[in-house]
Amino acid sequence: MAVSKPTLDPNKIKQDFPIFNRTVNDHPLLYLDNAATSQRPQSVLDAVMHYYTYCNANVHRGVHTMSHEASVLYEDAHKKVAKFINAKSWKEVVFTKNTTEAINSVARGWGEKFLKKGDEIVVSSMEHHSDLVPWMMLRDRLGVELKFIDVTEDGRLKVDQIDELLSEKTKLVCVSYASNVTGVINPIKEIIQKAKSVGALSLVDASQALPHFSVDVEDLDLDFLAATGHKMLGPTGIGILYARREILNEMDPLLGGGDMIRTVTLDEATWNDLPWKFEAGTPNVAGGIGLGAAVDYLENIGMDQIFSHEQDLLDYALKTLSAIDKVILYGPMSTENRLCVLPFNIEGVHPHDVAHILDSNGIAVRSGDHCAQPYMKKMDMDFTARASFYLYNSREDVDTLAAAIEKVKTVFKV
Ligand code: ALA
Repeated sequence: MAVSKPTLDPNKIKQDFPIFNRTVNDHPLLYLDNAATSQRPQSVLDAVMHYYTYCNANVHRGVHTMSHEASVLYEDAHKKVAKFINAKSWKEVVFTKNTTEAINSVARGWGEKFLKKGDEIVVSSMEHHSDLVPWMMLRDRLGVELKFIDVTEDGRLKVDQIDELLSEKTKLVCVSYASNVTGVINPIKEIIQKAKSVGALSLVDASQALPHFSVDVEDLDLDFLAATGHKMLGPTGIGILYARREILNEMDPLLGGGDMIRTVTLDEATWNDLPWKFEAGTPNVAGGIGLGAAVDYLENIGMDQIFSHEQDLLDYALKTLSAIDKVILYGPMSTENRLCVLPFNIEGVHPHDVAHILDSNGIAVRSGDHCAQPYMKKMDMDFTARASFYLYNSREDVDTLAAAIEKVKTVFKV
């Protein structure tokens, strides 16, 4: 992936995020749990607040002024996301609750309708549980077969192995664009082309990609993309399902109810236009509007700038943390095709204890299995701590983390 020279000033960006005015355990907050959820800039908080304060109304249900205003804002948010991922039409962008709901919508609405016993789905073994369990449930319901792409010891996907797994029985290939555990970025375009060569569709979990670099569904020739708003500066409870229009037209909706219908008699119902066919019930209007504001914020900074800043951080963090005695880093020791997501352990200290002591120093990291147990197992990791960085993090934050790791070592005498 091409990387431009970083010019972004993370300390200036931090000023846009009110949460960084708080302290945690008497220390300035150092937030390094961005792969779990990001923080929100004031503009996103304002957009949500504006909706509730000035035009709180249900969408698509009334002719009154506020309902119209809310509907326009909510539709505009779909348009912003469509432009952000370069979808041909905003009607190809469905808002869901999160990535999990987006992937389950495909498993239920497309998988159950079009797959049958004996069909095969190729899934990467580095997936988050949200891109594994729905396919396992489908396997149990339909008798489809799952084939798993293996990973190398340092957590890269064995892309060449895909050729052996693909056949005319393959109907879908599911791979994440970037791992939430190691930050490994997969060669998604190549994988999609491989899927196409046997007539299979592809689904990309872009939850960790969309916040960090530019994703172009047209260029990728992608069939399904799933992502979530809260990891890309947006509110929680709002996710994205992109699919090509002809697929969405054929697919069944996951949920039935209000707004997703055109007509209802006591005998049958017909479906609304895209994307509303897939957004049954009152949607997360505020969340959608907030996501639109998050996209505005990211575009204003520039995705290339965000990516190159994080590449610089990754380079610095790999060098700094690998120089600390007793620190075990997992994943590739290179910045190539990797996000700044760093799982690590301190020899002789449980990762929950590491996270606990870091927290007492104001530093938020995740510890555990990172919702990707098969991947962790394949890499011989049980539990780890994980530091994940974003646009508001700086080289000084890496230094602060390194100093706090030394404190953990002192406390545990390792
Ligand atoms: N998927 C999120 C993480 O990796 C929750 O932490």
